Amino acid sequence: MNLNQRDRAHVWHPYTQMLTQPPLLSIVRGQGVYLYTEDGRKILDGISSWWVNIHGHSHPKLNAALADQARELEHVIFAGCTHRPAVELAERLVEVMPPGLNRVFYSDNGSTAVEAAIKMAVQYWRNRGEPQRNGLITLHHAYHGDTVGAMSASEDSVFTRAFTPLLFPVARAQAPYCYQCPLGLKRATCGIDCIGDLERRLEENSERTAAVLIEPMLQGAGGMIVWPSEFLGGVRRLCDRYGVLLIADEVLTGFGRTGRMFACEHGQVTPDILCLSKALTAGYLPLGVTAATDAIYEAFLSTDRGQTFFHGHSYTANPLACAVAIASLELFRENQVLARVGRLEQHLRGGLEPLRSLPCVGDVRVIGGVGVVELAGDSGYLADIGTRLGAAFLERDLLLRPLGNIVYFMPPYAITDAETEWALAQIGDVLDS
Ligand SMILES: Cc1ncc(COP(=O)(O)O)c(C=O)c1O
Repeated sequence: MNLNQRDRAHVWHPYTQMLTQPPLLSIVRGQGVYLYTEDGRKILDGISSWWVNIHGHSHPKLNAALADQARELEHVIFAGCTHRPAVELAERLVEVMPPGLNRVFYSDNGSTAVEAAIKMAVQYWRNRGEPQRNGLITLHHAYHGDTVGAMSASEDSVFTRAFTPLLFPVARAQAPYCYQCPLGLKRATCGIDCIGDLERRLEENSERTAAVLIEPMLQGAGGMIVWPSEFLGGVRRLCDRYGVLLIADEVLTGFGRTGRMFACEHGQVTPDILCLSKALTAGYLPLGVTAATDAIYEAFLSTDRGQTFFHGHSYTANPLACAVAIASLELFRENQVLARVGRLEQHLRGGLEPLRSLPCVGDVRVIGGVGVVELAGDSGYLADIGTRLGAAFLERDLLLRPLGNIVYFMPPYAITDAETEWALAQIGDVLDS
């Protein structure tokens, strides 16, 4: 039996209808931006393996960091113990994160980074004697992960609908989705009026709100929606005015994806709590970070043990993951990675903007290392066109996973100009046909 047949006998895949799923790609090796299959194909990884890979697959420096750490210490309980990779990574993160975020809480992945952030915000107010401040305001089109708290905070969608009875209520404010403006306005002439909805909700409910939770600048799985940066600055100002915490979920946007190290920098914003994962370990190992300001951290310091942050996971601060994350941050410096993302952004703009003239194209959006084409017509994650397009790209050895009618290209930053041009040509050809 080949790998696919053995897989079918026992394995259940994420986001996959196992009845109708065509044969899986059996990947035997990754190198740079390419994935190599068991049957000899070489496929360009145009979605950075679910948005995690940034320096390319099987990078020699990251491989070495992982192997060196494995020889020293593979893992140890992180309650009552510490280790060099966790401490050093926290120090390095504090150097690069928006100023004021001095405290690093580790977990396992993006969803747990968000879960920890929500719990941290709610307990912050409880520890400060304001337990009634326990509500959350999130945005329409949000996606924050698949655990129950993260799903509650996400848009009500096909991803969450089966679990509605489990989810806690949140208030959802309008997002700046300019192509489908919730107010029917045009970006060229509007005054970011959509933020008024968030303001009204804060006006009515700030006394019962713990935090506003956002994906700054780029809402990912909810539609690859790129924000005007004024909206981000506006959210921070409103949170300050109404005394509510701001949680920035940068699980997708962190580590250069939007062209800045963190998307919050587009609005010169420091959130009270910042969620990181995905590219944190450059696509090597699962690791989550929930970073907080000193003010948040200090609200948990008490001789009353009930005020402790009771949250943790078996693999919290896994040393292998931390060691790779440190090496990845070094690569940012050594290889001027952010400048590379800037060039990639220009390339994406140059290649995708002309597609606006195709009758099937509704909108084109580019930010940093993400290029998005929203197709006019049938919309939504389950729109059949997404599956058909994904198959057409794959026939051309380009791995993309359109979100229904939203086609996006999000390669590792290590992609060369020639590889980018090739991929953009495939996208143009397929959409044209
Ligand atoms: C913004 C955002 N938050 C959280 C998550 C959840 O991360 P994970 O899949 O690692 O649980 C994702 C995943 O796509 C994401 O895009």
